[in-house]
Amino acid sequence: TFVVTENCIKCKYTDCVEVCPVDCFYEGPNFLVIDPEECIDCALCEPECPAEAIFSEDEVPENQQHFISLNAELASHWPVINEKKASLPDAAEWDGVPNKLQHLEK
Ligand code: SF4
Ligand code: F3S
Repeated sequence: TFVVTENCIKCKYTDCVEVCPVDCFYEGPNFLVIDPEECIDCALCEPECPAEAIFSEDEVPENQQHFISLNAELASHWPVINEKKASLPDAAEWDGVPNKLQHLEK
């Protein structure tokens, strides 16, 4: 499966959702997640993310491992998103800022 990690938070560019053939992205207020049970590992989304926030599960950086279970958990609560929308207003400023997990809205 593929996993959305920390740098999506407060950016939410949504380019990723347009290419997913199985519509397995789910949307929260300032973050997206991938449902690991639906993802077919096609890898199409990974290069689409301007924030480089998407990784294959086995390539998730050591300090981002908690996002694997977080994607699974939040995917069961949030609605599906399959059309691109405007990024969050301050996306450019937040892109690359460390420790954004504290800003995650559920
Ligand atoms: Fe969707 Fe493919 Fe990305 Fe999985 S790897 S979330 S199936 S685009
Ligand atoms: Fe997030 Fe990147 Fe998609 S910032 S919404 S994972 S394009």
